[in-house]
Amino acid sequence: MAFILSWGTSSCLSVIQNRACNTAGATPRAVHSALQSNGRGLWRCARSTPALLRANRFRAQPFSPSASPKFPFSSRLFATAATGSGKVAVVTGASRGIGRAIALALGEAGCHVVVNYSASEAAATAVVQSIKRAGGEAMAFKADVRQPEQVDALFTAALERLGRVDVVVNNAGITRDTLMLRMRPEQWQEVIDLNLTGVFLCSQAAAKVMLKQRSGRIINIASVVGQIGNAGQANYAAAKGGVLALTRSNAREFAPRGVTVNAVAPGFIATEMTENLPQEQIQKTIPLGRLGEAREVAGLVRFLALDEAAAYITGHTFNVDGGIAIGAGN
Ligand SMILES: NC(=O)c1ccc[n+]([C@@H]2O[C@H](COP(=O)([O-])OP(=O)(O)OC[C@H]3O[C@@H](n4cnc5c(N)ncnc54)[C@H](OP(=O)(O)O)[C@@H]3O)[C@@H](O)[C@H]2O)c1
Repeated sequence: MAFILSWGTSSCLSVIQNRACNTAGATPRAVHSALQSNGRGLWRCARSTPALLRANRFRAQPFSPSASPKFPFSSRLFATAATGSGKVAVVTGASRGIGRAIALALGEAGCHVVVNYSASEAAATAVVQSIKRAGGEAMAFKADVRQPEQVDALFTAALERLGRVDVVVNNAGITRDTLMLRMRPEQWQEVIDLNLTGVFLCSQAAAKVMLKQRSGRIINIASVVGQIGNAGQANYAAAKGGVLALTRSNAREFAPRGVTVNAVAPGFIATEMTENLPQEQIQKTIPLGRLGEAREVAGLVRFLALDEAAAYITGHTFNVDGGIAIGAGN
């Protein structure tokens, strides 16, 4: 991940450098060596770049797919932005919180969404209605994703009623927090059963369909806790760390059939899961100084699930954490 980011940054800088230098009269090689030589070079170049870009008429434009192609490569990418038209998406634990926001985002983007829930039937029905009001299609389906036969019923229903499964978001999850020395085996097991085994079962069911289709995208909702750990969450951290490893293994295994698998690692997001935590204390640990919103996680999931530009991304973890994991080397 760190490699990809630094590669991406230096590539972008190279493009900017070339453009900027052509305008300003300095050679690309001269600016490149200024950038490489030390931090001050980088800072100077970053400061002068907006002016140079303006001079070269490469101003940042508000997003518009039909904007004139002054920057043809970017315009082509934007023109293919997220559309879920005709796609079938299964979202586990979609009755509340982050799963609900993901279901709404995918529904609004044109997917036919299967809104999975295990207990909150009224909430799941309300999600379906919201998607339909927004012009989308959706159906609610009760299934405890810890149970193999219920997972099987969920995917069989999706396939029989909708004909295919294009996107699966493994979102259902719980916490049973307590310090390690006080953790009872059943508190450990409950979290592992849903947060890790549930992802295994749904990924296996999804793969049976997607590998045959030779297409599909699986997005696993992990957690920053699976990357950096957290006192009082040994069970949760172990399960989410397992999800990250499962994501990478499945990405390698499914890639030859065109199926991508990625993970999203939220930090603290304002949902029922976090409402009883000490909010002020938590905010102090977040560089951006606030809890995230479920729709902010949903925005990234929509990109990974639907955008053509995400077709070449697999096996990676993307944080939506207000900066909590900065420098953790994920
Ligand atoms: N909120 C955060 O700060 C945060 C941070 C990092 C990661 N996450 C992860 O994000 C995911 C969603 O969290 P959230 O905050 O949105 O939680 P939430 O508000 O508590 O919602 C949990 C969802 O999971 C469903 N669910 C629970 N048990 C289930 C089961 N056995 N089978 C199927 N669905 C089940 C619930 O549906 P029913 O009510 O119908 O059971 C509900 O829709 C979880 O995986 C969580 O670990 C959350």
